[in-house]
Amino acid sequence: MIEIENLHKQYRTRHGGTVEVLKGISLQVPAGGITAVVGPSGAGKSTLAKCISLLERPSQGSIRVNGQDLSLLGGAALRRERRAIGTVFQSSALLQRKTVWQNVALPLEYLHVAPPAIARHVGELLESVGLADKANRYPAQLSGGQRQRVGIARALALKPAVLLADEATSGLDPEATHAILHLLMQLRDQFGLSIILITHEMDVVRSAADAVAEIRDGRLVQQGEVSDLLAQPGSRLGEQLFPVRALPGAGDLLLQVTYGTRQPVATDWISRLSRQFNLHIDLLGGQVERLGDRQAGRARIAVRFAESPVSAQALVQALHALGLAAEVLEQAPAWREAV
Ligand SMILES: Nc1ncnc2c1ncn2[C@@H]1O[C@H](COP(=O)(O)OP(=O)(O)OP(=O)(O)O)[C@@H](O)[C@H]1O
Ligand SMILES: [Mg+2]
Repeated sequence: MIEIENLHKQYRTRHGGTVEVLKGISLQVPAGGITAVVGPSGAGKSTLAKCISLLERPSQGSIRVNGQDLSLLGGAALRRERRAIGTVFQSSALLQRKTVWQNVALPLEYLHVAPPAIARHVGELLESVGLADKANRYPAQLSGGQRQRVGIARALALKPAVLLADEATSGLDPEATHAILHLLMQLRDQFGLSIILITHEMDVVRSAADAVAEIRDGRLVQQGEVSDLLAQPGSRLGEQLFPVRALPGAGDLLLQVTYGTRQPVATDWISRLSRQFNLHIDLLGGQVERLGDRQAGRARIAVRFAESPVSAQALVQALHALGLAAEVLEQAPAWREAV
């Protein structure tokens, strides 16, 4: 469990002033949870990563791992407790002249762990990341995805409680990205890790994260469980996660429909709705996916009535009964007058 509270970070500028890059960030990731941190370039994501991994000292705020505040520590205590947080960066800085095995062994050798214990642990780590057969290769002989796996194995060498990944899948093709995310989810379950995944890719968030936090200009502007954000009709992150690309149609009533409640939704909800009220319903666009045991996604529908209109409110209620949240985007006068 990691709890970040009211984290501020100021940097000194060259002219003797200061610039505040993080302006009070609070974030919690439970053991066994994956939280994605997203936001535009320059928002402060990597600065947050550096503060969490204690490479940079926060100007204010606390970082507690399993209850212990690491931001208060210094010297030997800091070096010891920093092990609770493993980090993986975009271009995992592997030592080019050392083999995969030696790279993963490095943090253990640094702590003077006994060689037989190192041998055993490195063997297990390489097994966990699927690189047991590449132990004697050098980084230059690996693919980008394999290099990231070495970085992940090395980050896990000291048995951290938290794994922090800053753009760990950037630059990888979709297949390698998927494999790394799958690995992270597996390691989370195996070791009960709290994982913080910094990324600019919404696909990454959708496929791996339980929760997401958006940073803009040093502040958290939106935060929540992925499935809850999807279920909020007005959520900007929900919209980014499941963009509905279709343009508004000519329907008299335009509705945005959101999946994401725990209630299962019948696949034929459109025809059910259309039969119930004698309506023509066009699906203008949308995307639905399964997130764990929940369905999530959004759709946009255009509704025209055959004989008599139904109130928009009645439609919203009927959709709700089908397990869907709905929001009226546009309403033609014919509908409004009917109510
Ligand atoms: N050492 C530093 N001294 C002064 N300013 C810094 C320093 N490091 C970062 N910054 C500034 O802090 C802001 C946030 O940078 P940061 O690297 O955290 O952004 P980011 O969200 O990771 O962006 P990206 O998506 O491009 O990686 C930027 O405006 C950057 O110029
Ligand atoms: Mg960055």
